[in-house]
Amino acid sequence: KANKRLAQLMPSLVRHLHDFCRENEVTVEEWSQSVEFLNECGRMSDDKRNEGQLFWDILGVESLVDEITYKVAADSGEKPTTTAILGPFWRPNAPIYPMGSSTILKDQGGDVTHMHGSVTDFTTGKPITNAEIDIWHTAPNGLYEQQDPEQPDMNLRGRFYTPDSGDYDFYCLRPTPYPIPFDGPAGKFLKLLDRHPMRPAHIHFIISAKGYKPVVTQIFDRRDEWLGNDSVFAVKDSLVVDFAPKQGDEKAGFDLKYDFKLVAV
Ligand code: DHB
Ligand code: FE
Repeated sequence: KANKRLAQLMPSLVRHLHDFCRENEVTVEEWSQSVEFLNECGRMSDDKRNEGQLFWDILGVESLVDEITYKVAADSGEKPTTTAILGPFWRPNAPIYPMGSSTILKDQGGDVTHMHGSVTDFTTGKPITNAEIDIWHTAPNGLYEQQDPEQPDMNLRGRFYTPDSGDYDFYCLRPTPYPIPFDGPAGKFLKLLDRHPMRPAHIHFIISAKGYKPVVTQIFDRRDEWLGNDSVFAVKDSLVVDFAPKQGDEKAGFDLKYDFKLVAV
């Protein structure tokens, strides 16, 4: 059965692609390089590596469709929690932990952080019970666990469920800036354009709760030198946070408070 949306999209895509080729007088040789590039992305992709997504991301496409989908332009003032791109490293079924636990399964150094805050209804300000906080970030070596045979399965990932108070807290790491994987076609592409592969230090989240729009987002460390220069264009002002030194907690050297505000569906 024909797909209506596809029938609407394809003539437009084809028109833009053809215009692009005409305007730039793209040659057969150049076109065949693009074929090789796409094939290489496909060959490299598996459940640990998502080269197709990486490619769209360095072109800013995921970031753009995120903005279009959630209609959140550069933000200021009181707003619900802003979305950001998912990126290629989310995994389903992260371990479920009780509040107050740690996602760190192996000591590889890094600055342990006690992160806490609340999940509330943006409109009413009321706490949201049983909201799921799904978090993932890299180890201090800049690698997600599925990229790194030295890390235990599901290291630095976890899911937490808010109690009646809507409050949450857990231990994670203050994140590290790192390059997106640049040993494949997307990385080659960046090099040919003289672009760097760095992402500012960030922690990923998906916050979801019954009756609310799920929020896929990331938070960024204000002190990061790559903040204004993210290779995948995901930074938004309201997602930049301050890690504060923490005293009196033998488990953590840093404290981070962040409140998530969801919008009802
Ligand atoms: C991308 C996103 C990430 O969060 C990351 O860690 C690496 C790459 C990306 O958008 O391609
Ligand atoms: Fe990431």
